[in-house]
Amino acid sequence: MAEKRILCVGLVCLDIISVVDRYPEEDTDTRCHSQRWQRGGNASNTCTVLSLLGAPCAFMGSLAPGHAANFVRDDFKLYKVDLAHVAEHPACALPISVVISNTTAGTRTILHAASNLPDVTDADFEKVNLSQYKWIHWEGRNASEQVKMIRRVEEHNQTRLESQRIGTSVEVEKPRPELYQLFGYGDVVFVSKDVAKDLGFCSASEAVKGLYRRVKPGATVICAWAEHGADAMGPDGTLVHSDACPPDDVVDTLGAGDTFNASVILALSRGRPLHEAIAYGCQVAGRKCGVHGYDGIV
Ligand SMILES: Nc1ncnc2c1ncn2[C@@H]1O[C@H](COP(=O)(O)OP(=O)(O)OP(=O)(O)O)[C@@H](O)[C@H]1O
Ligand SMILES: *[C@@H]1O[C@H](CO)[C@@H](O)[C@H](O)[C@H]1NC(C)=O
Ligand SMILES: *[C@@H]1O[C@H](CO)[C@@H](O)[C@H](O)[C@H]1NC(C)=O
Ligand SMILES: *[C@@H]1O[C@H](CO)[C@@H](O)[C@H](O)[C@H]1NC(C)=O
Ligand SMILES: *[C@@H]1O[C@H](CO)[C@@H](O)[C@H](O)[C@H]1NC(C)=O
Ligand SMILES: *[C@@H]1O[C@H](CO)[C@@H](O)[C@H](O)[C@H]1NC(C)=O
Repeated sequence: MAEKRILCVGLVCLDIISVVDRYPEEDTDTRCHSQRWQRGGNASNTCTVLSLLGAPCAFMGSLAPGHAANFVRDDFKLYKVDLAHVAEHPACALPISVVISNTTAGTRTILHAASNLPDVTDADFEKVNLSQYKWIHWEGRNASEQVKMIRRVEEHNQTRLESQRIGTSVEVEKPRPELYQLFGYGDVVFVSKDVAKDLGFCSASEAVKGLYRRVKPGATVICAWAEHGADAMGPDGTLVHSDACPPDDVVDTLGAGDTFNASVILALSRGRPLHEAIAYGCQVAGRKCGVHGYDGIV
């Protein structure tokens, strides 16, 4: 039987990226290194990386008509990401983000467009045939709806044999208290540096130790910290760490987090131990920092 797929639930948008070696001054006319359009959104990027790593995967999110959406649909196809469960919103527009990536300073400045595109709901999720998936990942957005979706998967698991159960992960990336209820759900909880800092933690190991009490018993908490690598704590309560694997030249860190998450999810979904999974995440994320976009990560 073919390997079951990994489903990522979250946002897709269009990123218009300009790479500069000096941040432009206001009211000037400057040339940049390069510009590109790239399909963005954290769940969408996670799918790109999974697909490049050879894992069959699908994206679930909302889509709207228009040029940005056409670009995004074609790009999903190009990367062999299945689009079986998108919620169509004919009266809305896909969000667009303008990104200025400064290679000298190693910063990226992002301007998100306000968007009227609603997030997927539990009513959309109810239509998903869960038997087709071995893992489902949620990018934390509309937490109250997402909690209902995760509960649905837990109910599915309760009536299945071990081998038929679906692994679950959630990503809490934005420091918004409404999202913190997601700590209590999912087999794996990814917490960003921003969230960790918002909660008063100064390192990945502190964050992982501190948040371990807030995840469900038997769950794993993972926190990445840019060039310091990542830390994690799994069901046995042992702290594990992986150093980052920086490339010779850091050229583009945009999406390093998504790359890390995708690689860790893939390793865990294939039954690898936690320390190996985060080491693999740091390796692939490190390769990503050495290339523009994602195509050079494999
Ligand atoms: N400057 C860097 N050098 C080496 N590795 C890095 C660097 N930045 C990120 N990484 C790798 O990427 C992983 C994820 O980093 P982090 O969570 O800080 O990314 P992020 O800020 O979420 O990225 P993005 O928002 O651009 O997707 C780290 O664990 C590390 O392995
Ligand atoms: C995706 O995650 C990154 C951090 O890892 C964040 O800066 C960015 O705003 C997120 N994108 C969206 C569309 O939420
Ligand atoms: C759900 O998917 C499984 C596995 O692919 C398939 O056997 C089953 O018929 C599907 N169920 C429905 C209701 O489509
Ligand atoms: C979450 O989704 C529900 C259902 O669509 C909606 O009623 C609610 O306003 C949303 N909440 C947020 C914070 O977006
Ligand atoms: C499935 O759901 C059960 C609860 O029924 C939960 O404990 C478990 O972590 C979930 N995931 C897997 C892979 O079993
Ligand atoms: C992925 O997980 C890491 C580590 O838990 C986190 O820092 C990051 O924000 C998550 N998501 C994205 C899109 O980077």
